[in-house]
Amino acid sequence: MRPRSLLTLWLVALTLLGGCASVPVTTAPKLDAPWIPSAPAVIAAMLEAAGVGARDTVYDLGCGEGEIVIAAAQRGARGVGVDLDPERIVNARRNAARAGVTDRVTFVVQDLFTTDVSPASVVTLYLGPDVNRRLRPKLLRELRPGSRVVSHDFSMGDWEPERTIPVPQAPGHVVYLWRVPPR
Ligand SMILES: C[S@@+](CC[C@H](N)C(=O)[O-])C[C@H]1O[C@@H](n2cnc3c(N)ncnc32)[C@H](O)[C@@H]1O
Repeated sequence: MRPRSLLTLWLVALTLLGGCASVPVTTAPKLDAPWIPSAPAVIAAMLEAAGVGARDTVYDLGCGEGEIVIAAAQRGARGVGVDLDPERIVNARRNAARAGVTDRVTFVVQDLFTTDVSPASVVTLYLGPDVNRRLRPKLLRELRPGSRVVSHDFSMGDWEPERTIPVPQAPGHVVYLWRVPPR
């Protein structure tokens, strides 16, 4: 190889390396709960407990791949799914397209603690007891009185649920229902 070609090769290699060094390193988001989808029977029980229908706007905080939001849209509601993991949101949008409900659902990559939940009439959760407790003041502050909150398996500290509903098709699983009180 001639010295000039060698020099060109060296310059190309340096440019590529330089380019690599400037590529942003993507780190996995720090999640408050792992991704474990609710079973279809539990989702049905959550939506039934909240009486979700066409007049509702359902927010699933930590929506995973969108199953709850999509099921709510299939009952005529509007749905918003929020998840910190971008891969979940990509797949949620794909699932919504497959279910034919893209006109009624929105999925956003966001930390659920920063999401404005004031447009919701129903909030669904499958997170954990500690996350629920931390969320409670925000839910009570932002949601309109009468809005419903349903949680798969996890309670909300000393906020007593209006109903605790076992799911016979998913033994050991329960759904909690709360209603935001008048201010
Ligand atoms: C147990 S999964 C529940 C998925 C779905 N809601 C369901 O019930 O099928 C919890 C989800 O919360 C998401 N998550 C965890 N921490 C979060 C945060 N701070 N903000 C938004 N999403 C979060 C995870 O990525 C995961 O998809």
